[in-house]
Amino acid sequence: MSKMIIKNASELVTCKGKSPKHGKEMSDIGIVKNGAVVIEDGRITDVGTTEDILQRYKENDFKILDASNKAVLPGFIDSHTHFIFGGYRADEFSWRLRGDSYMDIMNRGGGIVSTVKSTKEASLEELISNGKKRLDSMIGFGVTTVEGKSGYGLDLDTEIKQLEAMASLQKTHPVDIAPTFLGPHAVPKEYKGREDEFIDFQIEKVLPVVAEKNLAEFADIFCEKNVFSIGQSRKFLKKAAEYGLKSKIHADEIVQLGGAELAAELGAVSADHLLQASDKGIKAMAESGVISTLLPATAFCLKEEYARGRYMIDKGCAVALATDLNPGSCFTNSIPLIISLAALYMRMNIEEIITALTINAAAAVNRVDTIGSIEKGKKADIIILEYPSINFLPYHAGVNIVETVIKDGKIII
Ligand code: NIG
Ligand code: FE
Repeated sequence: MSKMIIKNASELVTCKGKSPKHGKEMSDIGIVKNGAVVIEDGRITDVGTTEDILQRYKENDFKILDASNKAVLPGFIDSHTHFIFGGYRADEFSWRLRGDSYMDIMNRGGGIVSTVKSTKEASLEELISNGKKRLDSMIGFGVTTVEGKSGYGLDLDTEIKQLEAMASLQKTHPVDIAPTFLGPHAVPKEYKGREDEFIDFQIEKVLPVVAEKNLAEFADIFCEKNVFSIGQSRKFLKKAAEYGLKSKIHADEIVQLGGAELAAELGAVSADHLLQASDKGIKAMAESGVISTLLPATAFCLKEEYARGRYMIDKGCAVALATDLNPGSCFTNSIPLIISLAALYMRMNIEEIITALTINAAAAVNRVDTIGSIEKGKKADIIILEYPSINFLPYHAGVNIVETVIKDGKIII
């Protein structure tokens, strides 16, 4: 049996909790000064002050990791990414710099459908090997669980190929993957003007195969003006729920369409983006317990106004933060960038930011019972910072200060 104690952590951030934190609770991250964690067989078996733990356990029986002058936190969870894709869209980024909008590029046949073409052309092996490189980079930022979406196939074979790439990586890579079926991510050219038929195609031809092969835990849809309507989104997500897939929604990203309200109505696990979410939608999310997943790097890369993170927390929402890594709107997997943007532009304090990247993100991937906090019984997914305090996370702006990553009780970095 592998046994380890991490001791002397100047700040042991537990994020203790078996449910997501709403509003003010997000600032309560359960810091233990001079803390210690006991790990046995990949699980956390005890947590306390170093004094207390070393009185109760014999150091000789354990591998000892001394975290003096270092902060220790739960591994980060990146709860919204599109990390499996073929090709790149660097040209589009340069068009956006010169003034074209994301939706203009999409409406003239670029954007998501351009990645769909490259993803169709890529072999399963290519998707797996690119996916592996991206996961390797993510784990360096302290990410121990990642959500990943399909949505660059739109047809049966390519949607399945993307999900199979994730299933294969789940078996071989230490990072845990929560797979999401995002069949209605864009309208393919041949379905322009026939969006209802495309939704029916996804429901009748793709969804049953995804469910039968057990390739996804969540279903998601790009609910947006000129993409899929509220009615189409409701229909698709309800059908997906009948197959056991929990709902996520790309909601109110560019236009205020009422995606946040729909998420609350459907009891979705999360509504994501929310740059334009209405006051009513925010209230509905807070009351229904939908996780409000904010993706500040997307607003940054699209030069849009940030989502109203401060307001949402003040209104009692459970906010999560994620990267949205994708080849179009937001080609970054940088957790340090997310932390900086949330602190500087969304007026979230560092405690709220940590909650949003750990326990609330765990809830956004329906894993709050097993990850997202350092407490007895949870997976030993733990990171150690180079510095003694969590205040260094936003302060060392945009720089990765994760020094050690422990996944399932094993030191990976
Ligand atoms: O979350 N908005 C829709 N989907 C992605 C972007 C995908 C892409 O541009 O390739 C997003 O931003
Ligand atoms: Fe996205």
